[in-house]
Amino acid sequence: MALIPQQFIQELLARIDIVDLIDSRIPLKKAGANYKACCPFHGEKTPSFTVSQDKQFYHCFGCGVHGNAISFVMEYDRLEFPDAVEELAASLGLEVPRDDNAPSRPKVDASLYELMNKIAKFYQRQLSSPQGKPAVNYLKKRGLSGEIAKRFAIGYVPSEWRNLEKVFPQLKTDQTLQKQLIDCGMLIKKDNSMYDRFRDRIMFPIKDKRGRVIAFGGRIIDQGEPKYLNSPETPIFHKSNELYGLYQARQANRKLERLLIVEGYMDVVALAQFDINNAVATLGTATTESHLQQLFRATRELVLCFDGDRAGRDAALRALEHGLSQLRDGREIKLMFLPDGEDPDSMVRKVGKDEFLQQVAQAIPLFEFLLEHLSAQVDLESVSGRGQLVHLAKPYLDKVTDPIYHEFFSNALAEKAQLSVEKLEKIIEQPQQATKPVSQPKQTTNGQKINKTIQLALTLLLQKPQLGLSIKNVAWLKTLPEKGPKLLYQLLEIIHNNPKISTGTLLEYWRDHDKLYNRLAQLAVVEREERMQGNEQAELNDCMQRLLRQAQTQRLDYLRLKDKQSGQKLTTAEKSEYQQLLLLAKQKPQKR
Ligand code: UTP
Ligand code: MN
Repeated sequence: MALIPQQFIQELLARIDIVDLIDSRIPLKKAGANYKACCPFHGEKTPSFTVSQDKQFYHCFGCGVHGNAISFVMEYDRLEFPDAVEELAASLGLEVPRDDNAPSRPKVDASLYELMNKIAKFYQRQLSSPQGKPAVNYLKKRGLSGEIAKRFAIGYVPSEWRNLEKVFPQLKTDQTLQKQLIDCGMLIKKDNSMYDRFRDRIMFPIKDKRGRVIAFGGRIIDQGEPKYLNSPETPIFHKSNELYGLYQARQANRKLERLLIVEGYMDVVALAQFDINNAVATLGTATTESHLQQLFRATRELVLCFDGDRAGRDAALRALEHGLSQLRDGREIKLMFLPDGEDPDSMVRKVGKDEFLQQVAQAIPLFEFLLEHLSAQVDLESVSGRGQLVHLAKPYLDKVTDPIYHEFFSNALAEKAQLSVEKLEKIIEQPQQATKPVSQPKQTTNGQKINKTIQLALTLLLQKPQLGLSIKNVAWLKTLPEKGPKLLYQLLEIIHNNPKISTGTLLEYWRDHDKLYNRLAQLAVVEREERMQGNEQAELNDCMQRLLRQAQTQRLDYLRLKDKQSGQKLTTAEKSEYQQLLLLAKQKPQKR
């Protein structure tokens, strides 16, 4: 997905007022210069969640959460960064631009979501109407409660050919609308007539990560063909990217320890009925790389459920293809095989929640499964069989690009083949060590290293960015070897380029640097002594003076050293710089 230009993010943050945004979700009360509420992210009775309008930043003194408007939407609505940006942009009626050099998503007609949502609501209403009675009975027969049906917004579409005309009375004459409904797969045009794709089915709305309805799966009541009818590929629905239930799983769990990947709509819903709220289903396709990537953004452990039969094992082997290359950073993929003829839905009904979870806990790690599977094809008792094993395993091992997992799996393979790891490595010769993707320069300045002066300067600038506007000519900051001064330089540069910037927007520049972001966010909210308030500009100027002196002393030391070393003559420019610095040093004796 194309990157969102930083410029747009800054604009967005400048246009949104964090107080309005948060107040629309949790009512805020004015308290002094700030606003307060009971923290929505941890249970509390007295409000310690504070929102600063000046800083455009929130902070909870109870649990420590903090951030700007984007962070709030990410946390509160449980969205990933790009989705949170989309959400905020949409609330202002803005379109999110994408950097052009990256492949961008084709533009979609945003009103399609609106239409799908309306239709889903209509189907839901039909389920509770007299016409929906057989559907309700069927769902009840399968053990589903009204509450779960509601949570998954399950509906019913009556058997008429033109239900959509009831949702959209103008449909007959409105050609734009007709085209839109055809585009999103709800209406079928044949010769000169049009009719609904879905009729007389139990409707499962498929939601995207932001909870927007993008497609439907329709199950026939009881018997019939096809059992499930699904929306086709549309501008807003790409089967191989979407997972049924991911939105609901994220809503139900603040932190997802693991996700279960199952095959069917009914499996997801039935597990939820048993209070297992972390299952998602692929939509009649194999698990794709894009699925795995998305799932790993939500959790670190995936448990793939398969039928115990032959087809299930084949599917598991196909999952290996993408799975192995996704292993890194403590991620884990496990496989769970159900007894022949069972699916998670029938299983959980049979054994109940606890026993089902027990089986989840016993799922087999991906590589272990692979070794077992390959070992079964050779004779481990013989030397040649063990040799074969190594060769069978090699193409899989090559997919493991993460060095740690590679080593770990090599060891396991060596043990199985009764080879020393050194020998094994010679045989399989290491795959090209995957070069780490070039990440943005990491500013790993840590707390201890930033000296007091730097820390104070950073604090002042983060709390009142406009103080930095009068601080000019600071290129010398970059000559100091530590990271703190460079960070200070960066901060000042951003402020000069964005004279009205708020604390919240300023911090946005460091979102991708976890540790530093948190450290800076702490400085941004640290409470300063009363007596120091109002003095900030003078304080900052003083900091800068002290740092300048430090930079001068260091430069002087450097030039002195260079001068002393034979063969390292000072240039004319350096000589005059040296003289000047000496003079300065005499004028301003170091205060202690
Ligand atoms: P299953 O046949 O295992 O369905 O297909 P299920 O979830 O167990 O359904 P119930 O329990 O009989 O109601 C698994 C998945 O394959 C896709 C659907 O996504 C389904 O959930 N599928 C299956 C179709 O798309 N069309 C079909 O006709 C059948
Ligand atoms: Mn089933």
